[in-house]
Parts: sequence; C-alpha cells; structure tokens
Amino acid sequence: MAGEVRKFTRQEVAACDTKASNTFIIDNYVYDVAQFLDEHPGGHEVLVNAAGKDASEDFEDIGHSLDAKDLMKKYRIGELVDEDKKQAKKSAQVNWHPSATAAAEPGFVGSWKFPVVLGILATVLYSYLFG
Ligand code: HEM
Repeated sequence: MAGEVRKFTRQEVAACDTKASNTFIIDNYVYDVAQFLDEHPGGHEVLVNAAGKDASEDFEDIGHSLDAKDLMKKYRIGELVDEDKKQAKKSAQVNWHPSATAAAEPGFVGSWKFPVVLGILATVLYSYLFG
C-alpha cells in the first residue's frame, strides 16, 4: 500500500475511538497507535486519552525527541482532508501590506525635511536682504 494516502475527516477520526483502534491527529496526519500502546514510553493512558482527538498540542508540549518523530511514521495511517486541515502556526504568517504602510507615510509638509528646507530658505533670504 505504499504511496496510498487515506483521507480522513475530523469526524471520522473521532469515530475511530474504539477498542480495536486508537486513532488521533497530530499536525494534520492521522495515527493509529493501537499496536504501540504498551510500548509507548509515556504510558498507554495518555494515548488512550488522546484517542479521537487532535493531539498536536499535547504531543508538541511534551517535546518528543526526533527518534519519537521518526517512530511516528510507522503508525501513520493517513491524513486529514484539506477542508479539515489546520493552518500552520499563526506566527509563521506575515501580515505585510506595503501599500498601506506607504499610504501612512507623511507627505513632504509632514516630514522632517519641511522645517529644514524652510530654515535654509529663511537664512538665504535674511542674508540677501540684510547681509
Ligand atoms: C505516534 C505517536 C507517538 C509516538 C511515536 C510517541 C513516542 C514517544 C517516545 C519515543 C517517547 C520517549 C521520549 C522521547 O523519545 O521523546 C515518548 C514519551 C512521552 N510521550 Fe509520546 N509518542 C506519541 C504520541 C504521544 C501523545 C499523543 C502524547 C500525549 C497526549 C504523548 C505523551 C508522551 C509523554 C507524557 C511522554 C513521557 C515524557 C517524559 O517521560 O518526559 N505521546 N513518546
């Protein structure tokens, strides 16, 4: 079955919470750890509690090692349908509107150059008239 990716909805994963399967979501991928429960170094209880849910945050909070992340691949059974996928962390999205920033920029009269130019003109005028 190599190369075949089964698609799940979040509802389907929630319904998979049975004795025969222990399915949950981590970062938009679906895992079934029924065969791993007794081997999990973190104990079977946390995995049973995560069944049917999105365990991304719990998994991340524990700070699983790279070895653990490698091991996960063995238990991956599919991924979420696109509509149910969560976007990557908000902080990774840059909200950048260059046009809005340019519009907020002050015009010449509002900028620091205006008083400087005014001062130079006044100096030239003064020395011309009274110098
Ligand atoms: C396929 C999914 C998972 C795999 C392959 C996995 C694998 C592992 C491994 C190898 C460790 C040993 C420490 C390490 O290498 O980081 C570990 C520890 C642990 N895991 Fe998981 N894990 C999975 C999912 C989860 C989930 C969903 C939770 C919680 C909801 C969880 C909670 C824990 C806890 C509490 C520890 C113990 C940490 C400690 O002793 O400091 N794991 N896991």
